[in-house]
Amino acid sequence: MSIRFDSETRIFVLETAHTSYHMKVDALGHLLHLYYGKTIGSGDLMQLYPRTDRGFSPDYYAYRTHRGISPDLLPQEYTGCNVGDFRLSCVTVADNRGAFGADFTYVSHTVEAGKYQLNGLPCAHAEENDAETLIVRMQDEVTGLTLELLYGVFARQDVITRAARLTNHGDTPLRLDKAASACLDLPFGRWDLLHFHGRHAMERQLEREAVGTHIQTVSSVRGSSSHHNNPFLILCRQDATETSGACYGVMMVYSGSYQMDVERSQTGLVRVVSGIQEERFAWNLKPGETFDTPEVILSFAAEGLTPLSQQYHRFLRRNICRGPWKDKRRPVLINNWEATYFDFNTEKIVKIAEKAASLGVEMMVLDDGWFGTRNDDNQGLGDWVVNCEKLPGGLDPLIEQINALGMKFGLWIEPEMVNENSQLYRTHPDWALTLPGRKPAMGRNQLVLDFSRPEVVDYLAEAIGKLLREHHIEYIKWDMNRSMSDVYSRAFPAEQQGEIMHRYMLGVYALAERLTQGFPEVLFEGCAGGGGRFDAGMLCYYPQIWCSDDTDAIERLTIQHGTSFGYPVCTMGAHVSACPNHQTGRTTPIDTRAVVAMSGTFGYELDLGKLKRAECTAVKNQIKRFKRLNDLIRTGDYYRLTDPAENAYFTAWQFAAEDGSEALLNLVVTHPQANPLPIHLCFRGLEEDAVYELDGIDYFGSQYTHDGGNAIEDGIHKGMRFSGSTLLYAGLVLPQLFGDYPSVQLHLTRKG
Ligand code: GLA
Repeated sequence: MSIRFDSETRIFVLETAHTSYHMKVDALGHLLHLYYGKTIGSGDLMQLYPRTDRGFSPDYYAYRTHRGISPDLLPQEYTGCNVGDFRLSCVTVADNRGAFGADFTYVSHTVEAGKYQLNGLPCAHAEENDAETLIVRMQDEVTGLTLELLYGVFARQDVITRAARLTNHGDTPLRLDKAASACLDLPFGRWDLLHFHGRHAMERQLEREAVGTHIQTVSSVRGSSSHHNNPFLILCRQDATETSGACYGVMMVYSGSYQMDVERSQTGLVRVVSGIQEERFAWNLKPGETFDTPEVILSFAAEGLTPLSQQYHRFLRRNICRGPWKDKRRPVLINNWEATYFDFNTEKIVKIAEKAASLGVEMMVLDDGWFGTRNDDNQGLGDWVVNCEKLPGGLDPLIEQINALGMKFGLWIEPEMVNENSQLYRTHPDWALTLPGRKPAMGRNQLVLDFSRPEVVDYLAEAIGKLLREHHIEYIKWDMNRSMSDVYSRAFPAEQQGEIMHRYMLGVYALAERLTQGFPEVLFEGCAGGGGRFDAGMLCYYPQIWCSDDTDAIERLTIQHGTSFGYPVCTMGAHVSACPNHQTGRTTPIDTRAVVAMSGTFGYELDLGKLKRAECTAVKNQIKRFKRLNDLIRTGDYYRLTDPAENAYFTAWQFAAEDGSEALLNLVVTHPQANPLPIHLCFRGLEEDAVYELDGIDYFGSQYTHDGGNAIEDGIHKGMRFSGSTLLYAGLVLPQLFGDYPSVQLHLTRKG
């Protein structure tokens, strides 16, 4: 049993393989958070929070004369509203008199096998009974608002998920102006905050800063989780590294506007409150109605950032991703976007596919521009009817030719958007989100469809379902290319306009659920102008997401590095594109581009017909190598060996099979130097006592090494054997690599 309750002390203990989570129902019935961290045994944890009369921290009414028991000082599982805790709050609730107030006290709890699910929201699922659920029921006596705190305990994974369910059991309507998913009060100490900010074509850049005394916020108001801040943060000890120090992860399973706030209180406790974005949120809760918050995934690692990331990787692969593709190697694809943009026809696409098929590519993806009047990105969205000028006879003749080459066929869609010149918009102008009396801000000249309306979701389920039913489409790239502004729904009354942003997300999830359940064999890839909606919510439907519109291999090192803190490589869409790169103008060796894209889903996005003969041979070999290595890359443990921001010379990362049987080291020189320090690296994740053979050693793009090419003989070479401990602690030195952006892949196999 990973969930225990002691009815005498009224203490809950949630245990995972290496962590403990303690809470206590206090004398007044409030649920206090006592501890989350490395596994601990017995002992009174209330001594951590001794009674202290601190000025201007008000006492509970029952203690008004003895003083020193204050909601403002005690660690809480989920705060009330306006009742004396001045730190970050979880909920803002108003009754029909306009009185803001809620004070939750314990009513009962249940422990269930398996994992709770949420109404209309994506969340983690159990696999082979690997989860238990705790539901703690609390009530605010005055309003009748009940709070169910939901805990999913995944013992083996060292993960605890949380969500809150609020139900109006009173007689009068209530309004929620804030409804967070979870509060986490951390033990004492000084913490750093790691978060992943960015912008279009530059997503998930790691920033590490000290947790100060002001509130630090990671959030999005854009209607999507956004390029600008990812809904994932880490709090770690200030001296924590990849391999040491306590680290907590907080990840939202949500793809819309969100808010994650961090505050260090006057007593040095750090609180993290995560949930839906408060700005412009107001949810009406009539008597009998329930509101489920999105889920939050918590994880703790005592020994640094690498184990924390690996816990998230395993969990997302196993308990977030679903469907038949989640554990499979994905087909090597060719996408025509950077090859043709909007300028294509059947003949051009077939030509690209023929070349691709001859090199071993397995799927042709037709990107934007195949429908309506979509000849540039100013028009055509909304009418999902094939453009027969570009594709005479429609999709089928094209798909037949692709399939005849032995390739699968995939298609791009952007279901959430509409252009004003579409038939859809002319028929239903009220289906777009626009403010009354104002000209809307336009993103890529497109408007956002009002997914809070069920009829819009139905229409798209039918339109896209029809495409999938009528054509042999085996992959869908679901794009979303603008931030949401002018949010106003014509289907809802004034008092419900604060619900629209969240209702929109419920509509998106409803459509994703219908399509993925209705067409389970189809591989879906998420996308939002690259990685603008790269989050665990979307991963519940699509097992992969296009990581960034920046396909430059060197920039991708930083983007994929940042992404790797929370997300496994098998979820990161990554392609080899043309050089000079279309986003940066940089030229990198084609094999270096492949080394980087292979640490992702892997594919190509260029006109392969323009490659030289040697490059074509390289592509053939890359695909063979990808197929050979993908099991290890997809399911192995991932290790960041360098931080691209700190090591200007090279970036290195590694995979090790969970059972220690093989490993792959990848390295890209990002800044060749005339007289560099030796490239010295220690492997990670190997068995100390095992013997490993260096059976794969590939140098790519290096023009020559420091002694005219003999370095490989002088130094490491294929067939060498080392004990695991030698590789772990003494390490290897690689030859000096010259030229523009050379790369290396070293493969080790356990031999005894
Ligand atoms: C977005 C995507 C690209 C491509 C274009 C098409 O930017 O991220 O990969 O699909 O849209 O318009």
